[in-house]
Amino acid sequence: MDLAQRLRRQELVVVTGKGGVGKTTVSLALGSLLAAHGRRVVVLETDPRESLHQLADTAPSGGEIVRAGPRLSIQNVQPRSVLEELVHERVRIAALARRIVASPIFENFAAGAPGLKELAVLVHARRLVHGKRRRGDVVVLDAPATGHGVSLLAAPQLVTEVIGRGPVGEMAQELAALVADPERCAVVIVTLAEEMAVQEAIELIALLRQRVARRPDLILVNGLYPPLPDRPPAPPPGARGAMELWAARRAANERELERLGAAWKGARVELPLVPIERGPALVAALRSLLVGEGA
Ligand SMILES: Nc1ncnc2c1ncn2[C@@H]1O[C@H](COP(=O)(O)OP(=O)(O)O)[C@@H](O)[C@H]1O
Ligand SMILES: [Mg+2]
Repeated sequence: MDLAQRLRRQELVVVTGKGGVGKTTVSLALGSLLAAHGRRVVVLETDPRESLHQLADTAPSGGEIVRAGPRLSIQNVQPRSVLEELVHERVRIAALARRIVASPIFENFAAGAPGLKELAVLVHARRLVHGKRRRGDVVVLDAPATGHGVSLLAAPQLVTEVIGRGPVGEMAQELAALVADPERCAVVIVTLAEEMAVQEAIELIALLRQRVARRPDLILVNGLYPPLPDRPPAPPPGARGAMELWAARRAANERELERLGAAWKGARVELPLVPIERGPALVAALRSLLVGEGA
């Protein structure tokens, strides 16, 4: 089953992994692949250092949903602003809502209540694919790195344990069911075939099992050095060092792929390091490399 096939029904695809491994790039490439297969996609970034727009070559979103291609939108969303929006929805009197949001109690609640900010991100994601203000069929969530990514997935369960009832409790219950259901929610771990990143990916698999009782659907190994040709041409003068570096990096990649393979027998997709600057051309190249992958 290829990737687009594998993800044809899910309404939420959560992409996580160590910082800097290419999560945002892969999220957009995946989103773009699903859009090419006819799904309406919103790629959601939560990193306050907004970078999705550079990859999509759009203006910074400032929190708005921005069109990035046919059936494809992107948005950078901050948990704090989602929480504020929820207050404004519940408290219809605008002046009162503004006072609540500005109050120290709200400040403490938003900053301190465990799982609340993470829950807000998931609430927002779910609303993008359900209900009156629906904007797509699937959200690809460029989630925070490793531990925080797992906290995001664990948040609904955590909140239901603290707040069982009322609108927040109900929302949390719905989201806990969504996160637990592999038919509706996919988890993708992105890694590089490098020691630290693979170590984190292996730990992440264990954390997911412990905290959300689920497996990732896919491990995507990004940024691989391509294998050297069997009989490489003689390097031009001065380029021997570069060739040796390439060979050494590829050998390290292969060692780490093996280590990952020993710990993870499930679906794995590999993407090479592509010599293209961050931007739409890189995303398009990765998307076309993803076509047919994921068996
Ligand atoms: N397969 C790839 N080939 C070449 N460059 C890549 C690839 N994947 C990611 N990059 C580059 O690596 C950098 C980090 O990627 P990014 O998606 O921002 O990582 P993260 O979101 O995990 O921090 C970016 O400059 C991006 O253009
Ligand atoms: Mg990122």
